[in-house]
Amino acid sequence: MNLLFLKLLKPRIWKRIYKERLGEPFIYNLISILVYIFGDFIKKINYDLVPRHPYAFGINEAFKIAKEENINKIILIEFGVAAGAGLFNMSYIASKLSKIYCIDYEIIGFDSGEGMPEPIDYRDHPEKYRKGDFPSLLLKESDLPKKCKIIFGSIQDTLKKFIRDLEKKESKIGFVSVDVDYYTSTKECLNIFLIDKDSYLSKVVTYFDDIYMVDHNIYCGELLAIEEFNDKDSMRKICKMNQLRNTRVFKNSIYLDQMFFCHILDHKRRDPSIWVNEKKVILSNPYRKLLNDL
Ligand SMILES: C[S@@+](CC[C@H](N)C(=O)[O-])C[C@H]1O[C@@H](n2cnc3c(N)ncnc32)[C@H](O)[C@@H]1O
Repeated sequence: MNLLFLKLLKPRIWKRIYKERLGEPFIYNLISILVYIFGDFIKKINYDLVPRHPYAFGINEAFKIAKEENINKIILIEFGVAAGAGLFNMSYIASKLSKIYCIDYEIIGFDSGEGMPEPIDYRDHPEKYRKGDFPSLLLKESDLPKKCKIIFGSIQDTLKKFIRDLEKKESKIGFVSVDVDYYTSTKECLNIFLIDKDSYLSKVVTYFDDIYMVDHNIYCGELLAIEEFNDKDSMRKICKMNQLRNTRVFKNSIYLDQMFFCHILDHKRRDPSIWVNEKKVILSNPYRKLLNDL
């Protein structure tokens, strides 16, 4: 059965549709039915019809940026894999988009394989997440879809090795999902943004899962890790996507507040000298003639 129909069997999904979707303009809901039946994959993403909207939207953005930057292969990362639902979903989306954009990809998941570690203190939201939550349910390397890999172990250790190997690669990091719940784990994940500038697209689409509750705050959890990351004296800054809500058809979705870019400010595309020979942009002035005619 189609993935979307399977999701529709869950009451939680109907609650979300009621809250996020049905209050949107009737005309957009009507058009989205037509898009669902006749639209291509990217149109479906634009109308939030591909399951796991933040992944569909974010991975599509990463492919778009890669196309613009002439990159042949991108790396998509999920920190916090649990039983693999997110990783499999990423794989489905990326395999479709890869054909559309003619860009190759590789998906890497990081997880302990044993569920959540021990929280250190209040900053890890121990009232929400606890040691042993979200076990991997015996997910193995051999169960994974093509072009997909999981690196098991504490992110603090496994990321270091991954980074060492990455520096020899041609592919660029284009999408990162951080779904590790704790402040301490998120802090470890964000080290992915402190490596050689040539490892990335000029901006990396970044999704933070655990910032969606009304009591998530900048003194704990993922939001605290982002604050501390941005306070560092570095040319990498993590910022919420600007005006995202106003550019989407459906504006009530919670994920719109979870989408960020890690801006690689020292990336070569941010260097004025490479743009000097570009064609100049010329703006016309239609009001000049109007005023002259008065
Ligand atoms: C909420 S679950 C991930 C859910 C998954 N992204 C999905 O969409 O189904 C969080 C995961 O983060 C992993 N995790 C948290 N902190 C970690 C750390 N420091 N090292 C390795 N894994 C960690 C846990 O093992 C857990 O499986």
